[in-house]
Amino acid sequence: MITQISKVLLLSFFLFSCDPNLVDDPIPIVNFDELVINLSFPDYIELNREGGYKDVSDLGGGVRGIILYRISSTAFVAYEKNCSYTPNEACATVEVHSSGLFMIDPCCASSFNFSDGLPTGGPAWRPLRQYRTQFNGNVLTITDEIIN
Ligand code: FES
Repeated sequence: MITQISKVLLLSFFLFSCDPNLVDDPIPIVNFDELVINLSFPDYIELNREGGYKDVSDLGGGVRGIILYRISSTAFVAYEKNCSYTPNEACATVEVHSSGLFMIDPCCASSFNFSDGLPTGGPAWRPLRQYRTQFNGNVLTITDEIIN
């Protein structure tokens, strides 16, 4: 027979461990003002080539900032940096891996594709959140509208 204490210990394990947890909290929703980025500014030179990326958290959008990735000549993806796994943990923040090839949350080592934000390793089972982007001329706009 499972005692009360064992039940509590078991529950804590599922709630706070880095193992797959299918009753995980959702990423919090935040509203933020439109971010407007002029890609001709030297700060954004990386975004002028396909496959380029930049952490634009200094601009203030998202729950924990945003990583931009250029998919094609006309399309960008704006990823929320709050990890999709146990997002309320203090450490649940994604960054670009030092290889520059994918994103990773060093907290429990969940990794995510640049092309679609899907998890490729670690305990995360949901994709990273994406915000709407619009590209016009050389100006990229990111809004707080969630598109996935
Ligand atoms: S918080 Fe553990 S993988 Fe992101």
